[in-house]
Amino acid sequence: MSCCCPHSNSANRFFSFFAGRYRKRFEKKGFEPSQKQLLEGLQQAGYQDAKILEIGSGVGHLHQTLLEQGAKSAIGIDLASKMIVEARHWAEERKLTNSVEYVEGDFMEIHESVPDADVTVLDKVVCCYPDADGLVHTSLNKTARVYALTYPRNRWYVRFVMSATALFMKLVRSDFRPYVHDPEMVESWIRDAGFDKIYQDNNLVWLTQVYVKT
Ligand SMILES: C[S@@+](CC[C@H](N)C(=O)[O-])C[C@H]1O[C@@H](n2cnc3c(N)ncnc32)[C@H](O)[C@@H]1O
Repeated sequence: MSCCCPHSNSANRFFSFFAGRYRKRFEKKGFEPSQKQLLEGLQQAGYQDAKILEIGSGVGHLHQTLLEQGAKSAIGIDLASKMIVEARHWAEERKLTNSVEYVEGDFMEIHESVPDADVTVLDKVVCCYPDADGLVHTSLNKTARVYALTYPRNRWYVRFVMSATALFMKLVRSDFRPYVHDPEMVESWIRDAGFDKIYQDNNLVWLTQVYVKT
């Protein structure tokens, strides 16, 4: 499915351009430190026999690993067509095609047709979307038990890099923009939806949080 808003079309072009690099990076170096933290938090929350929903699932390695480690099924959604191509390829390589489904599209445009999940994951996605409030609330509504995400820390150097990237995107006439959303605000949305934080860690740039519904 193609995306109708200018931001999503530009994000599709931007992330499709980088899809091959995401794959090569994973092949060479494995999970990034923030993804290792995410996996640790998810282990503490538990995902055996769980239905996973990964929004902005990229080349797919995160939910594919959860499937290999005991999750029941997964849906990967990404608005970048080449990310979906890479993820499908890797699901075949890892013999996971029976337990995973891929949907190309902007989650905010297709959410009504997306089934509920036990575990929802947004790894470096909230920072790619202008309406963080809408994205977080809509994805929380799909989540029965565990909500896991990574997003940028609100630090001056992170804001500086994001602003420089936004300026560059403007200069190349792309509508895609990265964002630093206030972690206190994001956290309050999740808590107000009835989730407790059970895990938090960070590195220089990324904040990793895992919440469980009470
Ligand atoms: C920074 S990349 C991270 C990819 C992957 N989660 C990872 O960490 O390797 C963000 C991804 O989210 C996707 N994305 C951003 N907003 C989205 C939305 N509203 N619906 C679906 N995918 C989205 C982008 O296309 C991109 O592939």
